[in-house]
Amino acid sequence: MTSLSRRRLLAAAVLLPVAPAFAQSRPLTCGALTEAQTEGPFFKTSTPLRASLVEAGSKAPRLVVTGRVLSGRCTPIANALLDFWHADEDGEYDNRGFRYRGHQFTDAEGRYRLATIVPAEYPGRTRHIHVKAQAPGKRILTTQLYFPGDPGNPRDGLWQRDLEMRVAKGAAGEGTFDFVVEA
Ligand SMILES: [Fe+2]
Repeated sequence: MTSLSRRRLLAAAVLLPVAPAFAQSRPLTCGALTEAQTEGPFFKTSTPLRASLVEAGSKAPRLVVTGRVLSGRCTPIANALLDFWHADEDGEYDNRGFRYRGHQFTDAEGRYRLATIVPAEYPGRTRHIHVKAQAPGKRILTTQLYFPGDPGNPRDGLWQRDLEMRVAKGAAGEGTFDFVVEA
């Protein structure tokens, strides 16, 4: 999508009525689908069904990401697939097994909750979490989530502010992000 058409979509989104239920999460962006990004070289299929990726005994800082999967009309999507994968505390991906890989489905209100660790950055990339999101039977959105204020962000050509999680002051281990997908 060109930046011009994207701006138009965002402008259109501003005109949508603001539903109070969505007001606390992100600025209302349901009019625009979440920006797609490359899946990168480390995606694997057949991940375990699990909402917690925390490894027993890991001393890495914990991270909980919550939010919803929404349609472009701001309708919560139940049973949407979310498949997450990210680097470990040393910036490495597990390409043999499934450490820090797992998929889950949204609940009846379109909500999800991912419990994991804060991934480390690795050469050339700022800190990020890969994800595929899909409404039942619809097109898969592949994208990445970023950490607001991470010093590596401006140095990473893939980083986008729109794909940053919202992290409340003093709650570094808790992020929120709503996905808007084709539905
Ligand atoms: Fe990555």
